[in-house]
Amino acid sequence: MKVKVGGEVKEYQTVWMEEDVVCMIDQTTLPFEFSIHRARNVEEVAEAIMTMKVRGAPAIGVTACYGLAQAAIQNCSLPPDELKALLSKVAARFLATRPTAVDMKNMVTRVLETCEGLYSSKLIAQAVLHEARRIAQENVEACRKIGELGSSLISEGARILVHCNPGALGTVDYGTALSIVRFAHTQGKNIFVYVTETRPWLQGRLTSWELTQEGVPHCLIVDAAAGYYLQRGEIDVVLVGADRILPNGDVINKIGTYMLAVAAHENGVPFIVAAPTTTLDSSSSSLKVEERFPEEVTHVKGYNPELGETARVRIHPDVRAKNPAFDVTPAKYVTLIVTEKGIFKPDKIRT
Ligand code: MRU
Repeated sequence: MKVKVGGEVKEYQTVWMEEDVVCMIDQTTLPFEFSIHRARNVEEVAEAIMTMKVRGAPAIGVTACYGLAQAAIQNCSLPPDELKALLSKVAARFLATRPTAVDMKNMVTRVLETCEGLYSSKLIAQAVLHEARRIAQENVEACRKIGELGSSLISEGARILVHCNPGALGTVDYGTALSIVRFAHTQGKNIFVYVTETRPWLQGRLTSWELTQEGVPHCLIVDAAAGYYLQRGEIDVVLVGADRILPNGDVINKIGTYMLAVAAHENGVPFIVAAPTTTLDSSSSSLKVEERFPEEVTHVKGYNPELGETARVRIHPDVRAKNPAFDVTPAKYVTLIVTEKGIFKPDKIRT
């Protein structure tokens, strides 16, 4: 993705590896400050995922794969069986950080499988790093393809509503739903994007930051305004990503997606989901909806230009807040699902 840093435009991916360090764009300081977070051991990688320095289903999956590569490199003096056991423990640690998105499980399983049949710790470390890099590169290519295919669904002058941050920051590059937006914009389709704020964590500020970097015309709206614009016929299409797609086409995504899908359906507006095939849950494994910290609801974070610093302020006195991070949108509200393999009706999604 293009990032303007100090007057210069540079290309960045969301997460990458430098020797045994897992590097990522720190999403907790954006859009105020562009900074790189460097996670130097397993606990630092887990903490970065948990606190959402890196977030988005494919991005946290790839981060976990790099975390496994880091653990393999740092422990390659162990006997091979012990190293394999350690990698399984590290994988379980990462999987517990954010349990809803399925990409991490799919990707980490693939990395662990590459160790099978290897009986040298040096070879295991090499194989794990190689597989992690391959998975990252495949995500870049899948997201690019999603944008290419999905942009065919966007008409000239379309007014698009995007929820959460299904952007380059939520993947390794390009994004899912936002890859479609990027391609449509580059094709000169004269689009306009309504960006939902996405309370409580405000992923909309990341989407708005990405669209600003790319010069895509857009505005930010509060989540509750989505129905208003849909009802007034001011939205032509809703685009969202996904954290897990079930074999029956039900879509698990950022909290608020279900409400949006119902409102889009009611108003005859297409509701399109974009996701790489790593987001497909072929095993129908039990779904756990992540419940996040109540402080994300009772506090907000903002930037004070007079002090030149970010501040976290309480917007409600102590009260029990609930903070489910995801919801389930039944397939009947989903018009189409775009993956790197094609465009599908939800009941025809290939898992
Ligand atoms: O809690 P988050 O910010 O990790 O949730 C992310 C989303 O819900 C995205 O829409 C999803 O990961 C798909 S697009 C990268």
